[in-house]
Amino acid sequence: MKTLIVYSSRTGNTRMIAEAVHSVAPADAELFAVADAPDPADYDLLALGFWVDKGEPDRAMTDYMGRVQGKSVALFGTLGAWPDSDHARESVQKAVDRVPGSKVLGTFICQGKIDPKVLAAMAKMPEAAKHHAMTAERKARIAEAAKHPDENDCAAARKFFTDILQQVSVK
Ligand SMILES: Cc1cc2nc3c(=O)[nH]c(=O)nc-3n(C[C@H](O)[C@H](O)[C@H](O)COP(=O)(O)O)c2cc1C
Repeated sequence: MKTLIVYSSRTGNTRMIAEAVHSVAPADAELFAVADAPDPADYDLLALGFWVDKGEPDRAMTDYMGRVQGKSVALFGTLGAWPDSDHARESVQKAVDRVPGSKVLGTFICQGKIDPKVLAAMAKMPEAAKHHAMTAERKARIAEAAKHPDENDCAAARKFFTDILQQVSVK
């Protein structure tokens, strides 16, 4: 079973989860940033990592997913929202929908710190132009995201992929 892990990451959060996944993968599993990733056709099991951009898996990973056909796939992602929110579930579902010709063996999502430059730019916007008001809940969510991914997230990602490998090997 040839295993490939591909991630898209602007600021390193999704890369951190990809590295956790890689750490429990078979010794010959390969890890690539999406810009350098090889042809998915040459692999059996793909672990694909995205960051959530405006409620969707990011564009670079979405484009790569379009090349994936007839594979066993594990999907993982990071986002600023709460991982147990409808927003997170919908974002994961959109990732699943991007690989319709493959078998999705499992999904994983956790919070990832939001780029401070993006937060600073948003804070400077006039109130009327802001999509979301800065409520106490939102402040708390951003503050929590700033601590992630943490060691618990990495441990959960390792367990997620260990379970997937188990599924594949007992098939
Ligand atoms: C332009 C932009 C759009 C984003 N859109 C969302 C979003 O719609 N929902 C969300 O929960 N987080 C959103 N985020 C937060 C990122 O998904 C989160 O910080 C992620 O962990 C970044 O991953 P990376 O470090 O691998 O690039 C957005 C961040 C940026 C910069």
